[in-house]
Amino acid sequence: MHAEVTKVLFSEERIAARVKELGARITEDYRGVPLAVAGVLCGGSVFCADLIRRIDLPVALTFVRASSYGGGTAPQGRVKLDLLGADVAGRHVLVAEDIIDTGFTAAALKSELLARGALSVKLCCLLDKPSRRRADVSADYAGFTVPDVFVAGYGLDYDGMYRNLPYVGAVEIKED
Ligand code: IMP
Ligand code: MG
Repeated sequence: MHAEVTKVLFSEERIAARVKELGARITEDYRGVPLAVAGVLCGGSVFCADLIRRIDLPVALTFVRASSYGGGTAPQGRVKLDLLGADVAGRHVLVAEDIIDTGFTAAALKSELLARGALSVKLCCLLDKPSRRRADVSADYAGFTVPDVFVAGYGLDYDGMYRNLPYVGAVEIKED
């Protein structure tokens, strides 16, 4: 068995256009307030890098690391966070995530960033998979809504691979 990204769901051009739109909205919404963008490693790194260049404001950039463990079926979804010393006190924080799936990662990040003194925390994701939501969070800014299929590319991985694809595609498991 092997995995293949067989179908392009969101092309490079479509993603670029949408990221530009999100950046323009964020620019309007955060004008005049101290803003920190927190990219979520590893999956959100590509999206975050493109997004910040579409925000026409002074921005502090920081990265945080999040990983889930115990499998997606764990009751509260266990999320391991590493804030990597992010200095968010006194700033409005915008989290740049690849995808909000169950929402456990976003919920954990939100409460941890608020506990560290963020003035507000909003979520910006490239992809939103609301059909899988289990935690009580929703995206404040979302690029695209996706159905319940496993996707990879543009930062998102399947088994550690495909993050470098310039587009987002559907992962298919094939018999060898
Ligand atoms: P959560 O379930 O909302 O906590 O999402 C946790 C993380 O799972 C995301 O940040 C992604 O890294 C990963 N993830 C969820 N769905 C997908 C997918 O379809 N492809 C690749 N990664 C995914
Ligand atoms: Mg991730």
